[in-house]
Amino acid sequence: GDPRLKGISEAIRVVPNFPKPGIMFQDITALVSNHKVFKDTVDLFVDRYRDMGISVVAGVEARGFIFAPSIALGIGAKFIPLRKPGKLPGEVISEAYELEYGNDCLEMHVGAVEQGDRALVIDDLVATGGTLSAAISLLERVGAEVIECACVIGLPEVEGRRRLDGKPLYILVGPRQYNSII
Ligand code: PRP
Ligand code: MG
Repeated sequence: GDPRLKGISEAIRVVPNFPKPGIMFQDITALVSNHKVFKDTVDLFVDRYRDMGISVVAGVEARGFIFAPSIALGIGAKFIPLRKPGKLPGEVISEAYELEYGNDCLEMHVGAVEQGDRALVIDDLVATGGTLSAAISLLERVGAEVIECACVIGLPEVEGRRRLDGKPLYILVGPRQYNSII
């Protein structure tokens, strides 16, 4: 594969039992504080999506916001935030979903995305896929076409599956040291 992927994988820090016992937290703060590795990560996405006719990059609060705007700028698309409840001031549509550790909900401004928009959904990590499924639903409810979902890290439950709700799912790397610290 691409030699940049090794650097990306090695820059992910695993924090066992955070935020709850049994969770192997995949911390991307060290990845983004290394300029070369952060740039490699964004470049890999920009190279993949620059000629796919993407008109909107939807980033998932919070950690999706770390990557999505740079990708949007890189491919010449608009960026829209999918936010946790109660944060957007305008009229919103909402989708509830289940997380590895709890329930949550995503909201999107009505009018942020138009019928016929070609959307890329960006998040840092996919575990169960619940978050990305909610993002796909929001975009499709307003008539956008979800071209692909993309994450830096894919946990084993979805890693082998290259699709999510029938949409292509693109993952850069697997979880770091997933089995080595128990
Ligand atoms: C984390 C992660 C993904 C989601 C993946 O977000 O950033 O968004 O979980 O899990 P799933 O595939 O099982 O849905 P979380 O809401 O924990 O926190 P954040 O606000 O820090 O991004
Ligand atoms: Mg998140």
